Amino acid sequence: MKANLVLASRMSRLGTESAFEVLARAKALEAQGRPIINLGIGQPDFKTPPHIVEAARKALADGHHGYTPANGILPLREAVAADLRRRHGVEVSAADVLVVPGGKVTMFFAITMFGEEGAEILYPNPGFPIYESVIRYSGATPVPIDLHEDKGFSFSAEEVLAKITPRTRLMIINSPANPTGGVVPKSEFDKLAAGLERHPQVAIMSDEIYGEILYDGARHVSLLSYPNLRDRVILLDGWSKTYAMTGWRMGYGIWPAALFPHAERLAINCHSCVNAAAQYGGIAALTGRRNEVEHMVEAFAERRKIIVAGLNKLPGFRCATPGGAFYVFPNIAGTGFGAKELETRLLDEASVATVAGTSFGAYGEGYLRFSYAASREAIEEAMSRIGTWLDRQGNQRRA
Ligand SMILES: Cc1ncc(COP(=O)(O)O)c(C=O)c1O
Repeated sequence: MKANLVLASRMSRLGTESAFEVLARAKALEAQGRPIINLGIGQPDFKTPPHIVEAARKALADGHHGYTPANGILPLREAVAADLRRRHGVEVSAADVLVVPGGKVTMFFAITMFGEEGAEILYPNPGFPIYESVIRYSGATPVPIDLHEDKGFSFSAEEVLAKITPRTRLMIINSPANPTGGVVPKSEFDKLAAGLERHPQVAIMSDEIYGEILYDGARHVSLLSYPNLRDRVILLDGWSKTYAMTGWRMGYGIWPAALFPHAERLAINCHSCVNAAAQYGGIAALTGRRNEVEHMVEAFAERRKIIVAGLNKLPGFRCATPGGAFYVFPNIAGTGFGAKELETRLLDEASVATVAGTSFGAYGEGYLRFSYAASREAIEEAMSRIGTWLDRQGNQRRA
């Protein structure tokens, strides 16, 4: 008899990350011989620095093949604590650190820990699509924090605080942000932290995975540095973006003492521990030389200028200069195309992969995300192809 399987209803509420679908389509077109320029994918185009690779290789050669403690090896957690002290001037104990396979895992644990029917969770929109997806999966109600183009894709603390109800359990913050590159100014964070005093039932998950990719001398503001929030801030960070380690699956969460045992139990139920050799690579990343990281950020800064200038020359595009991460989020309303149509047609007809703003939530209509983690030549060629394609559409409309 043919199988007749019954899935849990929550499975129908789980969304996805369209950037992976765009990547798969771009790869399929490439395999057919099409010269695709991929500005869709959110990962550095650099290799992991060699001293990190060497540390992981040595760990394997030295026999680190078994399980590690579920929370991660002690020298790695100590290195994380020292790194947070160096970057944010905050005191974190190695006992607060839960090393997990990638930044996403802290997100999944925090949302499923608080989310259930009747609960509300605030999340940025447009924002990283997994936030809304997992909130829905958990049964909680997603409450969007809208990010405004005219505020550099930041938010107004007052507007955010006004969305809190007695049912709000968790607020998700992401600065610097995917997909917009927006950075929340310290003044808004100060207001938010002060206002949260009135809402002690709200936990905050601060996704700071792009915290070291900032421009124009800006300094990152970590929500960990607000003493009045320390017993309810969950910090999400990791190695993927800063050290070009997306495929290593290395991330961590800093958890308040009351939440830590729950997060650790989720880890034991889910993945036991992170790949042992990768953890040794993680120590080398945090304690070793930083010139490759600095070089990468300098390269992104230069490409940011090129892509912003290039996009602003395209008819119907308007592109703000982002403060961090490696994305731009131009407004494309003036082209007359919807975001999804433009994404599809630019890939099919101009061989340039981008991601529709709507992949990051309903408020992303009218925008397209470009990643500039690509060479200068690739970015310039992409701008030229899109310009030619738009001209052709304009001519056809006029004809
Ligand atoms: C805002 C944000 N948070 C978290 C992640 C997940 O990172 P990781 O690959 O380490 O799971 C990403 C990846 O694109 C991201 O953009």
